[in-house]
Amino acid sequence: GGFMVIRMANGETTTLDFREKAPLAAHPDMYLDDKKDVIPRLSIDGHLAVGVPGTVDGMVKAFEKYSQLKDFKKLVQPSVDLANNGFQLTEREANNLNSNKEKFEKLNTALPVFVNQNGAWKKGDVITNKDLGRTMELIRDNGEAGFSEGEVADKFVAEMKAGGGIITHEDLKKYEATWRTPLIGKYKNYEVISMAPPSSGGIALLQMLAMVEKYPLKEWGFHDPKTIHLMAEAKRRAFADRATHLGDMDFFKVPMEELLDKKYLASRMTSFNSNQATNSDDILAGEFNDKESDQTTHYSIIDAEGNAVSVTTTLNAGYGSKVVVNGGGYLLNNEMDDFSSKPGVPNAYGLVGTEANAIAPNKRPLSSMTPTFVFKKNAQGGKDLFMVTGSPGGSRIITAVLQNILNATVHGLNIAEATHAPRMHHQWVPDQVFVEPGISDDTVEELESMGHTVRKVRTMGSIQAIQVIDGYKYGAADPRRPDAEAIGH
Ligand code: GLY
Repeated sequence: GGFMVIRMANGETTTLDFREKAPLAAHPDMYLDDKKDVIPRLSIDGHLAVGVPGTVDGMVKAFEKYSQLKDFKKLVQPSVDLANNGFQLTEREANNLNSNKEKFEKLNTALPVFVNQNGAWKKGDVITNKDLGRTMELIRDNGEAGFSEGEVADKFVAEMKAGGGIITHEDLKKYEATWRTPLIGKYKNYEVISMAPPSSGGIALLQMLAMVEKYPLKEWGFHDPKTIHLMAEAKRRAFADRATHLGDMDFFKVPMEELLDKKYLASRMTSFNSNQATNSDDILAGEFNDKESDQTTHYSIIDAEGNAVSVTTTLNAGYGSKVVVNGGGYLLNNEMDDFSSKPGVPNAYGLVGTEANAIAPNKRPLSSMTPTFVFKKNAQGGKDLFMVTGSPGGSRIITAVLQNILNATVHGLNIAEATHAPRMHHQWVPDQVFVEPGISDDTVEELESMGHTVRKVRTMGSIQAIQVIDGYKYGAADPRRPDAEAIGH
């Protein structure tokens, strides 16, 4: 599943939500034991972690509405060939598959092709996947029905039954990707277009941009402790709202206007102390009067005519639930872990949630995916596309996109620098500032002296971005995931 933010050369913008849904048999307590405690890893590994997939319906809907290549078969054929003829593993892919070998063996009803029965995978080894080739042929020939009906659906449902999952034929047939209105906000001279719920990314991004807007980031400087402290405090407040107020809008009334109200966001920062970290325990989600409201992939593309998409798509964790449909050849997601299994209990990304993101049949789990466009005001009073950006990385997606935008707008870095530069992260809970290598020890000490708990981590997110300057398009692929590439044709 995923989100696609679309901008046509004629200025039309829209978004497509092809996020997974909870199965019809899902219920709020499905990951709790008799004592109502969360059963470890039940929403992360195996068949019960799987949400009803949305990618095939999403891609078909995008094709039907916007594709210039009218022949669906021609579009899908390269995938059929790749599966049938095989593809060479990069070093990173080989290592990742090797380190997940035991899980693949334990969690599957039949041994998938991703397990090397003769030992370890190495760079250059070729994996062919005839089952996936057959699945893709049926999708090629029958479109969306090739996935949700017939042989592919039968194998999917048989896999669920064999492994203790709950997705049925009815779930697969009922799934519909949804066109949604984009979220549009302003930051200085820029217009930012991103994804509305069930993504939390767009709202959190616009909230954080508004919270930092009045501060002199440029004067303070890139990666100055003051700059990092301000961003940590803005992130802390945005993620507190995320935990309480954000969920699937088809099920829960998200107070969008209130959350994005400039006065509200200014009030959130009245407790900001430029010398002292706030304690996350002292930051609650905002309260509104309206009592009615009770490891991922990103690609950014601009074509020769100026049409653009920003797409983030995911199985959630690396290899999702680790389950491969027997005879189908493809991996299943573990997107159910993006729901809040129990209020206050963190998911795999350490994120907490409440009622807004509780499990309900047919509901979409809250996401952090933040596919985004940034437009810049031009001299004629119009606006030009300035950035297409997004990232994988769970909760770190939102803050990686924020920093990518601030780096390229306020700090004046080019898109490669803006993408490569060390990043920091805060998500309210745990109350820690995460920093990548490259944030200096002096800066860490200064943050600690303000009361922050600083945690050094390896890398966070992997931005894939394009910047447009004077009509030239500059691509940047984040070196944090070296398999990525920026390509111009
Ligand atoms: N599965 C990660 C996310 O959507 O946030």
